[in-house]
Amino acid sequence: MEPNEPLHYVAETDELEEGGRLITSIRGREIAVFNRENEYYALANYCVHQGGPACEGRLSGRLTEDERGELVYEDDDEFVCCPWHGWEFNIETGRSLAHPDRYRVPTYETAVRDGKLYVRL
Ligand code: FES
Repeated sequence: MEPNEPLHYVAETDELEEGGRLITSIRGREIAVFNRENEYYALANYCVHQGGPACEGRLSGRLTEDERGELVYEDDDEFVCCPWHGWEFNIETGRSLAHPDRYRVPTYETAVRDGKLYVRL
């Protein structure tokens, strides 16, 4: 994210309710914006696996093991699941759930000004 890149208007904030998402086109790129607990996260709607619409799948937390080895569901982070082959990406960081250091969907800075939502791109 370059601080000198311009902000692009996306929507009024009340058009994107908590838990929702919208997909828009900015400078020829499809960008998904998620509202998670009234924080906004923007990602490229492009899967780094085979180019699928990464941000159009279901949203969820993740399963991990607790100290006793039992499966527990955590929702501290939220992941979007690419509908083509199921790769999951953290909506805040863009990082792959399975290979966070290897695969990442590009993310973009968001801004809210006077009830209007912008993405820097
Ligand atoms: S293209 Fe997204 S998981 Fe394969």
